[in-house]
Amino acid sequence: MYVVAIGNQKGGTGKTTTAMVLATALADPVRGPGMRVAILDADPSEHVTRWCRARVEAGRSQVFELVKHYRYERREGLTSVFTDMVDDFMDADSADVLIIDLEGTGNDIFGKALSRSDLLIIPMQASSMDARLAAKASGFANRVAREFRRPINYVFTLSATNAAMITREEKIIRAELETANEPLLPVTLNKRAAFQAMFTYAKTLEELTEEEARGAPKAIENAVEFAAAVTTHINRLNEEEAA
Ligand SMILES: Nc1ncnc2c1ncn2[C@@H]1O[C@H](COP(=O)(O)OP(=O)(O)OP(=O)(O)O)[C@@H](O)[C@H]1O
Ligand SMILES: [Mg+2]
Repeated sequence: MYVVAIGNQKGGTGKTTTAMVLATALADPVRGPGMRVAILDADPSEHVTRWCRARVEAGRSQVFELVKHYRYERREGLTSVFTDMVDDFMDADSADVLIIDLEGTGNDIFGKALSRSDLLIIPMQASSMDARLAAKASGFANRVAREFRRPINYVFTLSATNAAMITREEKIIRAELETANEPLLPVTLNKRAAFQAMFTYAKTLEELTEEEARGAPKAIENAVEFAAAVTTHINRLNEEEAA
């Protein structure tokens, strides 16, 4: 099983959106690879947990497995068992990929999640302020890597980008990342109403009607390409590790 954490200590950078889009695209057996996907909802806003719950209430099928939600952890004061929980889940081997949606602060769950992750995806908006804070997340990953004496691979991704053109800000961020030799996924998630409507209606992109989200087909295409880019990145990391 492969563990992908989605994290950035800055709030509102598109972590939960990225987690959900990636999970549903990877689980899609028609347009995607049809993987067995699980999400660990470590975001206190519990958007993913509520999405799953709303689907049960509406009689819709579950698209991915929900490991356990954050409130349980917090209520029980059980942050120390976070890693046990991940380890138990990995041992159960019921999923091909586990996606951890982290909260937008650098709490100790961030470090614990990283200690069990094969890849950290760091979403950031294409603005220079976001880029500076995202660099903190990569620094954190490097510190955790040293602490646990294991490499933690991370990759940046730009979220909610302009679909029609690459803005000046985006160009600057891309150039800065390249100069600093920091990895960036080749596909970005565009700013699309459908990515928000997924949460509003507790639906996958495919389930959204034209009335609920205009331009959903474009969002589906974007999601499929994004998930494929993540898969390619993971495969390359695996090849490098094997070499
Ligand atoms: N690709 C996108 N298209 C349209 N809206 C987006 C996109 N990505 C993020 N957003 C919007 O930006 C806001 C923040 O996104 P999201 O909740 O995914 O961020 P987050 O990093 O998980 O936030 P938090 O730190 O609070 O957990 C939300 O209103 C979301 O709908
Ligand atoms: Mg979130």
